[in-house]
Amino acid sequence: MYDHEQDLNEINTRLKKDNISFKDKNILITGGAGFLGSWICETLLMQGAKIICLDNLSSGQWDNVKHLNSNPNFTFIHHDISIPIYFGRTMPNAVSYPNISEKLDYVMHLASRASPFEFKNFAISILKSNTLGTMNALGIATAHQAILFYSSTSECYGNPPPDQVPTSEDYWGHVNPIGPRSCYDESKRAGEAFCKAYELQHNINVHFVRIFNTYGPRIRSGHEFGRVVPNFIHQCLNDDPITVFGDGTQIRCLTYVVDEIEGLLRDAYIPEARGIPINVGNDKMISILDLAHLIKELTDSNSKIIHKPLPIDDPILRQPVLTRAKTILNWEPHTELRDGLSKTIQWFKETFDK
Ligand SMILES: NC(=O)c1ccc[n+]([C@@H]2O[C@H](COP(=O)([O-])OP(=O)(O)OC[C@H]3O[C@@H](n4cnc5c(N)ncnc54)[C@H](O)[C@@H]3O)[C@@H](O)[C@H]2O)c1
Repeated sequence: MYDHEQDLNEINTRLKKDNISFKDKNILITGGAGFLGSWICETLLMQGAKIICLDNLSSGQWDNVKHLNSNPNFTFIHHDISIPIYFGRTMPNAVSYPNISEKLDYVMHLASRASPFEFKNFAISILKSNTLGTMNALGIATAHQAILFYSSTSECYGNPPPDQVPTSEDYWGHVNPIGPRSCYDESKRAGEAFCKAYELQHNINVHFVRIFNTYGPRIRSGHEFGRVVPNFIHQCLNDDPITVFGDGTQIRCLTYVVDEIEGLLRDAYIPEARGIPINVGNDKMISILDLAHLIKELTDSNSKIIHKPLPIDDPILRQPVLTRAKTILNWEPHTELRDGLSKTIQWFKETFDK
């Protein structure tokens, strides 16, 4: 049995060691019904925070948060964050929630589709979520004098040359501004620029992390979403061919969701993280081909590995430098890939066999 409660307790036990607590804080989480957002909602509710989860349920799922809906400290708002929204007051011709009048302490902006397979059909809404959406989230943070936390991405680095891998936060990136991934990569870069602009102009307390490839229970699955871990797990559990793009020598660093959520919450909380990007991800490397073999072994699958052409602009190698995460956040990933994958596989079996 996959033990979700144990994973949530693990995050909170680790945070408690450094007295990191969001108890009694009012927190708006955009994208709160998504993979990472729903884990954050649950972890913070366990700590005694009050959560407003805002989501347009585009790539997220009601199933991820419906068990929280009876909690008096949880409020769900169905809304697209690219459209301005006001709390505690009424604005003419605008979406307003005058009854939600308590001062917000944190605005955590995670709302954005994030899967490469969605970059073509949802390019404009992805751009809007990370530009207009970030601006709107920053506007709310400004009105409430709240801390703004933004989930940026390792994709800000694009395809760095070999001498910039592992990649530190000081590297400015090598991104194709008009390529098939640009709606995501460039809008995340613009989102960071928005954070810095609000810090400069309005002295807003902004925190932003560059998240690296994260996997775990609740990760969105289905071949159309193009994430390697769920794809391989699904294929193996069904004894379907495992599709490896290119020759499979591309390297990935994969972070288990428990480690990632701990890192994100440390970043949001720790004052020294203000205004600087911090890589939060695993620096242990695995090739895509080795990953395919490992998941095949863990699922005891009869699947065969097949190769397909490498998509344009697919990053060859992604690896974070973790110096800032270790020194500023006192964070590093602890979960072995084999253990994290075993839990994820178990969750897939229980969830999709229901
Ligand atoms: N999971 C990863 O490996 C990873 C890596 C790098 C960055 N990130 C970033 O972390 C954040 C969360 O990613 P995730 O993996 O949980 O993805 P996800 O797709 O599971 O979650 C995103 C959530 O945002 C919601 N959403 C999207 N656009 C919205 C909008 N305009 N208004 C309101 N809600 C909207 C979706 O419905 C979904 O619930 C994203 O910003 C993503 O770019 C994730």
